[in-house]
Parts: sequence; C-alpha cells; structure tokens
Amino acid sequence: MPPLLMCLFYLSEMSVKNAQPNFSPSQVSEIMKRLYNLTASGIRPLPSYDDQNLYVAPTEGGEYVLKIMNSEDSKNPTIIELQTHAMSFLYQNGLPAQTAVPTTSGQLMSLEEIDCGYGCQKYLVRLLTYLPGVTISKVPFTPKLLYETGRTAARMDEVLQKMVHPHLSILERENFIWSLSNVCLLEEYMSVLDGDPLQEVVKSVIDQYKNSVIPRRSNFRKCINHGDFNDLNILVQPDDNHGYKISGILDFADMNSGYYINELAITIMYMMIEHPDPIAVGGPVLAGWESVFPLNKDEKNCLYVLVLSRFCQSLVMARYSVMLHPENEEYLMTTSRKGVKILQKVWELGKENVEKFWFDHAAQLGV
Ligand SMILES: Nc1ncnc2c1ncn2[C@@H]1O[C@H](COP(=O)(O)OP(=O)(O)O)[C@@H](O)[C@H]1O
Ligand SMILES: *[C@@H]1O[C@H](CO)[C@@H](O)[C@H](O)[C@H]1NC(C)=O
Repeated sequence: MPPLLMCLFYLSEMSVKNAQPNFSPSQVSEIMKRLYNLTASGIRPLPSYDDQNLYVAPTEGGEYVLKIMNSEDSKNPTIIELQTHAMSFLYQNGLPAQTAVPTTSGQLMSLEEIDCGYGCQKYLVRLLTYLPGVTISKVPFTPKLLYETGRTAARMDEVLQKMVHPHLSILERENFIWSLSNVCLLEEYMSVLDGDPLQEVVKSVIDQYKNSVIPRRSNFRKCINHGDFNDLNILVQPDDNHGYKISGILDFADMNSGYYINELAITIMYMMIEHPDPIAVGGPVLAGWESVFPLNKDEKNCLYVLVLSRFCQSLVMARYSVMLHPENEEYLMTTSRKGVKILQKVWELGKENVEKFWFDHAAQLGV
C-alpha cells in the first residue's frame, strides 16, 4: 500500500469505528419525551450506512424518522443546518422532501451528549417527517417512471438554485470526492485497480473528462446538487394509473455546489445500475429532465463522459472501501459488480452511438 493510502486507512479506521451511534430503546424514548414531548412506541430501525435512523410511531399519532447523526458529522452543525434548510425549502416549493420537526423549545436539531457504548459523545439529533412509499429500487422502471425521475431531479435543482442561506459557500466542498466536478481526484486512488484491466478504462474516462469536460465547464449552468439521487434515496407510491409516482426524496448529505448537468448524469447512472437494459435509461430520464430544463450544446456534449465518470467514482471508491473494510466486501461490491459490466459496455459502444441513442430516444418521447 502506498503511504497516502496507508495513512488514510489508519485515519479512517480510527475515526469511523466508534462514530456510528447505537442509542438504546430507553435512550430513544427519553429523547423523544424530553425534546419532542412524544411517547415513543413502535420503534424500528431503518437502514443507514453511518448514522442511526429509527422509524417512530408515537402514541400521540403520526409517523417520524429519528435521525441520529454519527459523532464525526455531528461536529459540523452548520452543514447539517443547511441540509435541513434545503429540505424544508424544497418541501415549501412542492417537492416531497422530509422536514424537521421542531423541539418543544423550537430547535430543528439538538446536540445530545450521550454514552451509547463508546463513552460520552455528542450526536446531532433531528426528528424528520416520515414519507409514504417504498424505495424506487423495489418497483419496475417503466419509461414513464424514468421520465418522472428526470423531471423531478430537474425541478429539485431549479428550486435549490433559488435557495437563500448565509452559509451557502460551505457547499463548495472543494475536495469532496463524490462531486462530479472533482473527477480528477480519483487519480490518487488509482492503485486500488492495480492489475485489473478496468484500470485502463477508468484512466481513459478521466482523460476524456480532462480533455472534453473541463474545457467546456465554463458554459455549464451552475446550481446546487443533491448529489446522490440514487435508487435508495427516491421513494415512490402507486398513482391512479397502475403506475408509480415519486413520493419522497431522501438524504441530502452529499449536497454540493455543482452544475445542473452533474445531477442529470448522476441520476442516469444510478437508474442504469438497476435497469435490465441500462442503455434504455438515458432517453426517458433526459426527456423528463429537458421538459423542465433544456440542456445547452456544451452540457449535451459532456453528458456521456459525465455518466461514465460517475461509474468510475462509484467503482474506484467501492474498491477503496473494500480495502479499508474487507468485512463489508459483499455489501460494498454488489452495486460495483453491476457497475463494472455497464461501464465496460457503455465504454465499448462509444460516445457517438450512445449519445445518438439517448438523444433520439428522448426526442421520440416528445421533447
Ligand atoms: N421518510 C422516510 N420514509 C420512508 N423510508 C425512509 C424514510 N427515511 C428513511 N427511510 C428508509 O431509510 C433508509 C435510509 O435513509 P437515509 O436518510 O437515506 O439514510 P442514510 O443516508 O443514513 O443511509 C432509506 O433507504 C429508506 O429505506
Ligand atoms: C405535552 O403534550 C401533552 C399532550 O400530549 C400536553 O398536554 C402537554 O401540555 C405537553 N407539554 C409540553 C411541555 O409541551
């Protein structure tokens, strides 16, 4: 392992191991009562990669998600406050984001110092509304639902762009590895693919990013990105026509200042991963997106490389995480394995073919 990775390995092990909260049922009940004057019952865990998420149905009525942030992220209340603000702003503008329920003293979050097994640590706690529906990963991706996904992503970015907040500048996140503006940062992790033929593909994608995306970036329109519009962060529920409509947008932890086109590329990539015919995803998502926000020439020209770049980010970071946490290999590699196949195929098809397919298909769908 090269020294940089060795050092990151050590830091990450040190900081992450004890950071994920594990509040007991009685600690949860006490917090619900003291902060929200609610009697917790019907508590069940919800999945979370680094926080503790709990579904709570208090005896007073209603359904909520109690989100207890890990102790690392809890050290940064400003960014959490900004995320909570964005969620509420989207909700006020007709998008189905969760909102935070104020404590009895009117706070949207509370810093709780608690020992849940790792000594006394501080955790940021928020009570969020529970949204109806199931994750989009559980239902068939019809062209109509893909169109809706693209349309919702574009509406979301249009609203986020109007948001006002004194600390918007912290969303610049210059070294944020998941930003599609920072694809070149992957070069530092390239050794995780040593000996794998995929390394050549990833290197070529990064080269194309440097040669064709970066020079056009000054013509991309800026906005604030959700940044992780994936199949587990979108909720759907049945509509009146035997299909599904989007009923929830979750997880604003990756929000960052970027470009509209980044959000579209991320959306297409994650829908491709879950689709039996990945190439068929781009057209409908693009058509839905352009029904709200038509792309300019340079944005169109970069879509293919940006979608491939997201595959590369996902793949390289999955390999890197496996190296840090071999015990999670099974979990971390599921998305990644599908991703590798799609990346290879889309790369072999080439920019012209894929773009033609996406843009012709979108045009047929009526944009
Ligand atoms: N409001 C909600 N409505 C329905 N399901 C939810 C809600 N909030 C969270 N979930 C479920 O919990 C999971 C994790 O939520 P999320 O906020 O994305 O957590 P994290 O970023 O910590 O992984 C989601 O994938 C979803 O299945
Ligand atoms: C708590 O809720 C109950 C009703 O469930 C109400 O009667 C009481 O006044 C509330 N207390 C506070 C401090 O808000």
